[in-house]
Amino acid sequence: MPLTRDEAAGRIMVALDYPDAAGAERLLQELAGIPCYMKVGMELFYAAGPAFVARLKEQGYSVFLDVKMHDIPNTVKGGAASVTRLGVDLFNIHAAGGAAMMEAALEGAAAASSSGSRPLVIAVTQLTSTSQTVLNDEIGIAGSVEAAVLRYASQAADCGLDGVVASPQEVTAVKEACGASFLTVTPGIRPAGAALGDQSRIMTPGQALAQGTDYMVIGRPITAASNPRAALESILEELVQA
Ligand code: C5P
Repeated sequence: MPLTRDEAAGRIMVALDYPDAAGAERLLQELAGIPCYMKVGMELFYAAGPAFVARLKEQGYSVFLDVKMHDIPNTVKGGAASVTRLGVDLFNIHAAGGAAMMEAALEGAAAASSSGSRPLVIAVTQLTSTSQTVLNDEIGIAGSVEAAVLRYASQAADCGLDGVVASPQEVTAVKEACGASFLTVTPGIRPAGAALGDQSRIMTPGQALAQGTDYMVIGRPITAASNPRAALESILEELVQA
């Protein structure tokens, strides 16, 4: 069934990659009234912190805190509890931290949830910047990137996590390995004609939707556009038509 415009907006996570709150606030004003998910990553969170997340929540946005936790289980448990108390709707951890760390993140989130429903917790499998050579020769993991991604995704699913960050190209294989309800959050989205930037394995929003991606993370095609609102509207139109 085709998506409504608001349903399409809810599937887009706008990457607020700004060095301070002022830049992000300007974008929020331009996009006012469009019910997208907002993604706060390290750059903005380390600069503007919990106060900025609280402002997003006050404005009614769902928030993905993209801080990719990776530490000993006890520390990640505490980090997960802290971000849960901030009210984020989704946060992520590195699957490379192992099963005990992933389970600790879920425990921390559940223990800190006041409403009884914890935030979604998803795993980073292999960063999309990791090439085959880097995986094998620098990180020291043998085999293909895809095999490493699927192994981490399966471990995350076994631990009870809600999904993974993945390239749109990996969605089909992840869903086959982990089940249709296991969430896929995919960066590397470029509308036709948009600048690639440093992304290489890309799909258009319509193609990613057709792959079954649950949420698409989109940054520069919106944030660096001369008219961000028009850029987002055009992506929404593509998704509604898909
Ligand atoms: O500007 P662009 O659309 O490329 O932004 C993609 C966003 O997704 C950035 O915030 C980036 O940090 C994030 N991301 C990514 N690849 C990953 C994980 C996160 O591009 N594997």
